[in-house]
Amino acid sequence: MTKIRIAIQKSGRLNEESLQILKDCGISIDNGKDQLKASSRNFPMEVFYLRNGDIPQYLRDGVVDIAIIGENVLVEKGEDISIAEKLGFSKCKVSLAVPKSFKYKSIQDFEGKRIATSYPNTVNNYLKDKGITADLHIISGSVEIAPNIGLADAICDIVSSGSTLFKNNLKEVEVMLTSEAVLAVSPKISEERRALLEKLQFRIQSVLRARG
Ligand code: PRP
Ligand code: MG
Repeated sequence: MTKIRIAIQKSGRLNEESLQILKDCGISIDNGKDQLKASSRNFPMEVFYLRNGDIPQYLRDGVVDIAIIGENVLVEKGEDISIAEKLGFSKCKVSLAVPKSFKYKSIQDFEGKRIATSYPNTVNNYLKDKGITADLHIISGSVEIAPNIGLADAICDIVSSGSTLFKNNLKEVEVMLTSEAVLAVSPKISEERRALLEKLQFRIQSVLRARG
């Protein structure tokens, strides 16, 4: 029997709520996070637990058919991937922040500055659009520490509650984008699996309506 292959985040902010929405759709997944692949007992679905940043490439290659992923990840590395549904959870922003003591006036203040980020494409496109050239330092995590250790003048990262910025004496000065979890679709999905996707979407839509 053909199964639809879905990627969800292995660990991190989206993991729990991704499993929850599947559960609310009446889809039981057999095993937990320790296994990288699991099947559903009552829906033709296989679940792959993957790293967030790898998911756009898996979709592009057609290794998975669909994924639950943050829109921000698609903006950064999957602008060619289409979105079937917005899922209404894991809302966040991708923002530029500077030390609290910085007297920020406008985006012009970023000209020539060193910006630490895990979102180089997003920052580049945003600044290019405003005619600003900055010096990007690409790091994969704990970005907010960069100004405190002299690695950068500013940062660009995800802001959710704002507590990481606060704890590191930073202030948000520009919101580049707002994001939430979405259901993304591989450009290579087969006809047969697209029919399963439609069935899933029908269930997701009623779950989202019930959540209000
Ligand atoms: C993420 C993100 C921000 C923080 C935002 O980091 O990179 O640092 O969460 O959330 P907040 O506004 O609620 O504080 P995460 O904790 O996932 O760690 P990482 O950056 O090392 O991947
Ligand atoms: Mg972080």
